[in-house]
Amino acid sequence: MELTRRKFLIGTAAACAAVRAMAAPIAGEVAAFPHVDSSKSLGQHAAAKGILFGTALGVEPLKDPAYANLVGSQCRIGVSENALKWNALRPAPDRYDFSGGDYLYQFSSSHGMKYRGHTLLWEQALPTWFHNTVNARNAKAMMLDHISVVVRHYAGKMHSWDVVNEAIDPDDGRPDGLKNTPWLQMIGPEYIEMAFHAAHEADPKAMLTYNENWIEPENRPAEQKRQATLALLTNMKKKGVPVHGLGIQSHLFAETIVGGPNFAHFLDEIADLGLAILITEMDIRDQHLVGSVESRDQAVAQKYYDYLSFMLRCKAVKAVLTWGLSSRYTWLTKFSPRPDGSPVRPLPYDADLKPTPAWRAVAAAFDQAGER
Ligand code: XIL
Repeated sequence: MELTRRKFLIGTAAACAAVRAMAAPIAGEVAAFPHVDSSKSLGQHAAAKGILFGTALGVEPLKDPAYANLVGSQCRIGVSENALKWNALRPAPDRYDFSGGDYLYQFSSSHGMKYRGHTLLWEQALPTWFHNTVNARNAKAMMLDHISVVVRHYAGKMHSWDVVNEAIDPDDGRPDGLKNTPWLQMIGPEYIEMAFHAAHEADPKAMLTYNENWIEPENRPAEQKRQATLALLTNMKKKGVPVHGLGIQSHLFAETIVGGPNFAHFLDEIADLGLAILITEMDIRDQHLVGSVESRDQAVAQKYYDYLSFMLRCKAVKAVLTWGLSSRYTWLTKFSPRPDGSPVRPLPYDADLKPTPAWRAVAAAFDQAGER
């Protein structure tokens, strides 16, 4: 694990210098993406450049043998989609249920994939007992106990942990930009650094990441979020808090403008802090696209290509994970359905487990990336 972390961090500082110079909105910059070798997996295309490719793992989807086979053959890393969230792990205040998380670990290790834990602290996916059991008096102890038990359970087995997920929301009006979560209300803003210290103590060799959403677009709300994220991480690094990476979720819409100069500058600054950058939950929503399936697929593929080409110019970007591999099992079917009722197609494989044009786009972006 130590080696893995070191390898991730070497060459990270200042590695994004090139990004600043090349920064420009790239939507539509590339009309088509180059030919790729489709006999190689996405994991192989990525690995050729020292990049880890993988996806979110769910216990139920992996019981589908054809899907499990696809994930095992395409991916070099898996992340728990839901199994390590509080509502899955904590059936009761005094009980832990690792069955789902362990199943995913077994799946990953038996397919030669690394395993990544998502997530130790989030204000969502809390069990129903949480709200009438956890209070300002016991919150800190509950949080530290959870982190210690869970991280120790997987000590030495995790590639990385999303220690804290989505802790920033400038709309909540705090000067530090932190989201007004139950954790913040009950423990105070220090809960974030406490969580990282506890995770580090429980597994000193695991890479610890902070994971955030909606920091990719070139608009004002995203810029405010980026500023707050940068301030949080800068402060943590200054204080010697064991944080090693930033997860950029990358749930995008096909029409999201990404790759602008402010985002490029942000990547540069994160890299200069010596942090690795992981693309942790990528999918491209086709919810608002009109037209034929072919034209929608093309727009989704182009966004994959544009975004990944842009991101991978930054050598601090070490891993790319999609949030599911096939539209047979995507959270967006429920969360972000199309108004016309036709199936969403946000991932590199469709519901028949056939590659979509996005597969080629992702492979091409890896082929064009520099080695790291
Ligand atoms: C989503 C899962 O994919 C769904 O199955 C679940 O119902 C809700 O959570 N950002 C995150 C992930 O950090 O944990 C979310 O996962 C998607 C958005």
